[in-house]
Amino acid sequence: MGETVRIVEVGPRDGLQNEPGVIAQADKLALISALAEAGVGVIEAGAFVHPRLVPQMADTGELLGQLPLREGLRYAVLVPNARGLEGFLEARRALDAAHQAATCEVAVFVAASEAFSQANTNCSVAEGLERAGAVVQAAKAEGLMVRGYVSCVVHCPYTGAVAPEAVADVSGALAQAGVYEVSLGDTIGRAQPVEVEAMLGAVLTVVPAGKLAGHFHDTGGQALENIGVSLDAGLRVFDASAGGLGGCPFAPGAAGNVATGAVVDFVQRRGFDTGIDGAALARASDIAQRLRSKPGG
Ligand code: HMG
Ligand code: MG
Repeated sequence: MGETVRIVEVGPRDGLQNEPGVIAQADKLALISALAEAGVGVIEAGAFVHPRLVPQMADTGELLGQLPLREGLRYAVLVPNARGLEGFLEARRALDAAHQAATCEVAVFVAASEAFSQANTNCSVAEGLERAGAVVQAAKAEGLMVRGYVSCVVHCPYTGAVAPEAVADVSGALAQAGVYEVSLGDTIGRAQPVEVEAMLGAVLTVVPAGKLAGHFHDTGGQALENIGVSLDAGLRVFDASAGGLGGCPFAPGAAGNVATGAVVDFVQRRGFDTGIDGAALARASDIAQRLRSKPGG
C-alpha cells in the first residue's frame, strides 16, 4: 500500500452552484449516492448562503435528511456567516441521530483578494476573517469539524496577481482561528505550477503541509500539474469535482474544479492510494455530466 491522498468531493456544492438552472433534488441525490458508493470520504453537499445569490444551494437544508449514509463518509456544508451556521444547525437538529452524526462538518471561506471578498461575500478580507472566526468558535462548541477555504490564492478575477504573502496571512489567520485544514483555492483556475510553488513556499512558513489542501479549478488545464507541485511540497489532500463540474458565480470565466477521476488517476500514477473505486466513480462522473448538459440546468 502506498501513502494515502485524501480527496474531498466538492461537486454537489462547487460543481452545481454555478449551473444556470436549479437542479432537482433527486438529481443531486443521485450524484451524491454514486459518490458515496465510490468510497469518497468527505462530500461537500451544499451551502447555507443567500438563496437569491446562489439559488442552486437553496434546498441544502432539505437535502440533509436524505443523504445516503455510509461507514467512513461524512458530509460538509459551506457556511459564510453566523446566519448560515444557524440555518445549518436548525436543519441538523431536525435530523435522526445517524444523519446528525454524518453531517458533522462546516466549511468557512475567505479570500486573499479584497475585490473578490467584496464580490463573493459583500465584505472586506478582515471582516471575512472575523465572520469565519465567529463561525469556527460556534461550530466547534457544537462539536462540528471546521474546514477553511482561502480563495484567489494566485489570481483574482478582478485585480490580477495575488501576493503569496497575502495568501500566507489569510491562511495563517484561519489556522489560528481553529480550522483543522486550510484549502487553498485557485478560484479562476489559471495558476501556473511555478506560481503555485511560490504561493506554497509562503504559506508553508505559517501553516504545515499536513493542515493544507489544494483546491484547483481547471480553466487553464494546469490543475493536475498544480497538484503535482503541491504533492512535491507535501500536501496530501485535494478537492475535486466529479466530471469536472463547477465554477463560482462571482468569478467570471472560471471553469470547473479539476475532475475527481483525473485526480485519482494522477495521484495513483504517482504511487498514492485514494481508497476510491474507479468504476463507481465513473458512474458518478456520468451523472455529473448529464446534470451539466440538462436543458436549463
Ligand atoms: P451580506 O450582504 O453581507 O449579508 O451577505 P447581510 O448580513 O448584510 O444580509 C443581507 C441579506 O442576506 C439579508 O436578507 C440577510 O437575511 C441575508 P434580505 O433582508 O436582503 O432578504 N443573509 C443570508 N441569507 C441566507 N443565508 C445566509 C445569509 N446571511 C445573510 N447565510 C453572504 C453575506 C455571504 C450571505 C452573501 O454575500 C452570500 O450568500 N454570498 C454567496 C457566497 C457564495 O456562495 N459564493 C460561492 C461559494 S464560495 C466559492 O465557490 C469558492 C470556493 O470554492 C473556493 C475557491 O474556489 O476559491 C469555496
Ligand atoms: Mg471552488
